[in-house]
Amino acid sequence: MTKIEPLKDGHGRFIRDVRVSVTDRCNFRCQYCMPAEGLPWLERDQVLGFEELERLVGVLASMAVCDIRLTGGEPLVRRDFPRLAKMLADVDGVADLSVTTNGFLLERDAGKLVEAGINRFNVSVDSLQRDRFFEMTRRDALPRVLRGLEALATFPDAHPIKINAVGMRGFTETEILPFAEFAREHPYEVRFIEFMPLDADHSWDPKLVLTGDEIRREIDAVFPLEALPRDPSATARTYAFKDGKGKIGFINPLSEPFCGDCDRIRVTAEGKLRTCLFSLHETDLRTPMRDGISDDGLREIIRDAVWRKELKHGVNEPGFRQPERTMSQIGG
Ligand code: 5AD
Ligand code: SF4
Repeated sequence: MTKIEPLKDGHGRFIRDVRVSVTDRCNFRCQYCMPAEGLPWLERDQVLGFEELERLVGVLASMAVCDIRLTGGEPLVRRDFPRLAKMLADVDGVADLSVTTNGFLLERDAGKLVEAGINRFNVSVDSLQRDRFFEMTRRDALPRVLRGLEALATFPDAHPIKINAVGMRGFTETEILPFAEFAREHPYEVRFIEFMPLDADHSWDPKLVLTGDEIRREIDAVFPLEALPRDPSATARTYAFKDGKGKIGFINPLSEPFCGDCDRIRVTAEGKLRTCLFSLHETDLRTPMRDGISDDGLREIIRDAVWRKELKHGVNEPGFRQPERTMSQIGG
């Protein structure tokens, strides 16, 4: 076999990580992502099938894109998702298979997913109080999500388990210390993510971003923190509690953009390649795949699109335009 070059963009960044959305559907309606009434879902035949996903992941892995994260919408609502996970875990070259989920179906699926080969889980939890969780997600599901987390935690192979909380000014302030305590008492690493302009309602405003640094200072005042070394392509800055109990992290895409080291691309549920969360342009991979393109041909389309990957998101710059897609239609 001829050697296949690793995937690289025009700014010299190697792409090692792909976020694959397996469905645009979701059973939650988080305020920072979806409108209360939901969104028009894609038709079934618009969504990439299991074989198509398997092929695409194989083609990407052949170009050294070896870390695969499955997202949605909510990936666990895709029918037979554990079977898909197993198919992708078995693809040649896949080194790491992870999933981002809202946790609602984890009680049902945790065992099957670990068995399928998923070795890292990110679970979104924005509040530890039932009524406020309901307010944010528009679903009264906190107890069920916590049970899902407990089910997952029984599997040694599922650790470390990460919890993502979006930091929104006017909502998250009262959650900060409870989350710090939660991270100290449970085997979960809690990470706060700055609220990004990817919400359906377009209600994002810079004033609504509760920055990672503000949150960190508040925690540090009560439970002193110590920075841990950071891997350049990691999005999170991680801290340990100085007394040795647990870890907490901050994903600060707005106050401390990490675009310079970005090694990620995304594929939407209908097979559009996006080179940035905030891309205004995307590349259709589904049509050429369904028209019978060769693997070499597909690699060429991907290389060409990735070559033009954005240098950085321009969220804080004049002229920034919010993409039409919401987070649920892109895949976190
Ligand atoms: N800003 C920041 N994070 C978001 N997520 C969804 N929408 C947004 C947003 N507008 C997060 C969710 C989940 C992951 C898929 O992305 O909390 O953890
Ligand atoms: Fe669903 Fe995740 Fe969007 Fe919430 S953030 S509505 S769980 S896709």
